Amino acid sequence: PTPGWTRDADVVVVGSGIAGLVAALRCRPHGRVLLVTKALLDAGSTRWAQGGIAAALAPDDTPAEHLADTLTAGVGLCAEDAVRVLVTEGPAAVRDLIALGAAFDRSAGGEISLTREGGHHRRRIAHAGGDATGAEISRALLAALKESGVEVIEHALVLDLLRDAAGQAAGVTLHVMGEGQPHGVGAVRARAVVLATGGLGQVFSATTNPEVSTGDGVALALRAGADVADLEFVQFHPTVLWLGAGARGRQPLISEAVRGEGAHLVDAAGVRFMVGRHELAELAPRDVVAKGIMNRMRETGADHMLLDARHFGAAMWEKRFPTILAACRHHGVDPVTEPIPVVPAAHYASGGVRTDLYGRTSVPGLYACGEAACTGVHGANRLASNSLLEGLVFAGRIAEALGAGLPEPGEPVAPSAAGPLPGTGARAAIQATMTAHAGVVRTREGLETAARDLAALPDGGGEPGVPAWEAANLHAVATAIVTAALQRTETRGSHWREDFPDASEDWRGHLVGRLAGGTLT
Ligand code: SIN
Repeated sequence: PTPGWTRDADVVVVGSGIAGLVAALRCRPHGRVLLVTKALLDAGSTRWAQGGIAAALAPDDTPAEHLADTLTAGVGLCAEDAVRVLVTEGPAAVRDLIALGAAFDRSAGGEISLTREGGHHRRRIAHAGGDATGAEISRALLAALKESGVEVIEHALVLDLLRDAAGQAAGVTLHVMGEGQPHGVGAVRARAVVLATGGLGQVFSATTNPEVSTGDGVALALRAGADVADLEFVQFHPTVLWLGAGARGRQPLISEAVRGEGAHLVDAAGVRFMVGRHELAELAPRDVVAKGIMNRMRETGADHMLLDARHFGAAMWEKRFPTILAACRHHGVDPVTEPIPVVPAAHYASGGVRTDLYGRTSVPGLYACGEAACTGVHGANRLASNSLLEGLVFAGRIAEALGAGLPEPGEPVAPSAAGPLPGTGARAAIQATMTAHAGVVRTREGLETAARDLAALPDGGGEPGVPAWEAANLHAVATAIVTAALQRTETRGSHWREDFPDASEDWRGHLVGRLAGGTLT
């Protein structure tokens, strides 16, 4: 579509979770910053984050131990240099967040309270409001944003990257729906573009992600020909509240911190099935626990498992996990008196737009951070609570890189006309085939069915507008996930191929590249 209005900025940041907000705040000293976000400023995943933010803050912890746990969870695919940056810069970045106003839970003696989650050998997870860490971080960053001079446009869905004649990023096109703001399709010309669009959980029917997590940044990058990596590694959170077969959309998360504080996973007969499957039992890395649950469901013919934390008692539930307690009670489950029914659901994209250690993508002037990016820190399976930290640390590094000199793109060339848009029903059809064939357990046959279903989705019929553009983005991202999942003929981390049940030395590498003719090249 032809832009009907234009705005100018030095840096345009797309997205308003932890990564986007930190990028915007930290870039502000270097020039005019415009932050655009698809819905309201706090609508993304950050504010839903429960467990917390991982960093070696305890006196008896070290970045080296955090590094070791991250590498183990990533099953041989983490970029060690990126993880080293994450764990060594992490503690100072969390302290900066505290200085900016984020209030973490503290012990009576004033120390930051730390909990455990899957894959961590130590108490390393800082939390706020008990189980409302993301909401507190979001609140503090948004308060800082208000005072910062960063301009904001809400209800702005990013469409495509604008580039100059040499291919350098020169801005983005947007579709804005809102009052008192530019309206309809427009263009922001900028010297640098930062993608911080978050996740893609809405590719699946049931997810912990909010409605807005439709992979917009990854889809934009795919259309722009930027390198993506590791898209096959979609992490399924082991424990969301089971709302019955056929539950759709965002599901209530039961944080791993509940297991970190001693809850047990049991089957209908009360057997603790994770004991003996891994030395850390319920606190094994997330992929191991999700597989353990799926396997036990199959072994017993059940459609969910149970998380038993009755022994916490009412007082601890109310103080430590008020959000989860309220969500369970809202759905008629009282965790104080009964075990919580749980199943795995799509949670986190470990892959994304490929970047270097300063958030640079393969397109000059285009940067990415947070869940939309693939810095390499997560490998084949993200370690719990490393994602808020990744957004925080790498958004700061983008600002550092841009502080050393903003790019000088030429005039943007006219954006190419959009192709036909998917019609009504496309979103549900994509989610259905991805859930049936490209979810926790995958096979060649199933993935080929998903690829066929996605290819057969009728193009056209969609009216230009957010639903159709989101469906187009979901389609692009789902196609890339299926392509990568078909290519990776092994089981590793969160990519579970039933027809190739073991990890293979041949696959200690990454599927990186652009989508072309059914392969990632
Ligand atoms: C949780 O609280 O279990 C989620 C933490 C995470 O995804 O890192």
